[in-house]
Amino acid sequence: MQDILSTIRSRAGDAPVRLGLILGSGLGHLAHAVDGVAIPYADLPGFPHVGVSGHNPQLHIGTLEGVRVAVFGAREHYYESGNPRAMLLPLQVLKALGAESLILTNAAGSMRPDIPPGNVMLLSDHINYSGLNPLIGEKTDARFVPMTDAHNPALRAALKAAAKAKGIDLPEGVYCWYSGPSFETPAEIRMLKLLGGDAVGMSTVPEVILARFLGLKVAAISTITNMAAGMSDEQISHEHTKAMAPLGAAKLESILRHFLRFLD
Ligand code: HPA
Repeated sequence: MQDILSTIRSRAGDAPVRLGLILGSGLGHLAHAVDGVAIPYADLPGFPHVGVSGHNPQLHIGTLEGVRVAVFGAREHYYESGNPRAMLLPLQVLKALGAESLILTNAAGSMRPDIPPGNVMLLSDHINYSGLNPLIGEKTDARFVPMTDAHNPALRAALKAAAKAKGIDLPEGVYCWYSGPSFETPAEIRMLKLLGGDAVGMSTVPEVILARFLGLKVAAISTITNMAAGMSDEQISHEHTKAMAPLGAAKLESILRHFLRFLD
């Protein structure tokens, strides 16, 4: 960890970072808006080897709308190697760099006909349908992390205000984590709807748990790339996810920029 911090500080300077951002599938280009340096994960020992196309495995540190940020251009998903704590080290690094908050983004399938592809959805809460937990194996009582208001109410209010100011609809909903990498069946989607889910995806939840464990405030936004399995005639595929993500990405960028501009 000290080696990693030295590498980062020698390239990006010592100024503390205020906020972290993890970019989801097809959203990696947002990182290039950061005025600063890009450090390949490969230069940071222990950082994930992300092998999913549509992701940009670099840590961008610099300013965005006047705020010093650390933007993770890619995440390792559980389905890549079966490790639910793959993002622990990057988040520990973020915390050590001084961040107080983390904004997570992802691509997701919608289970709500009123939130079709091209929209963005703010996570009000989540359902950990995977049954996995990144804190399994943690030895101290710190592992018993409360998850009430895990999706920070103040950050959510600020993101909603930013969306409103930009004229972008930002409904809130419950995100279900399904491990992937296969997509869900229509029967599974019917079940997740009954359980109270609004969107489904293969990421984010382990990072919310890890962030809360580390004492970071967290909020997450999904870009809706498709209707979930069985809800439309469209073929669901990773290609489709990557092709659709830019639609929501433009909205996401606009919300995030406004949110950062007014971060107090
Ligand atoms: N299911 C799971 N993950 C996803 C989906 C989906 O429908 N769309 C984008 N990521």
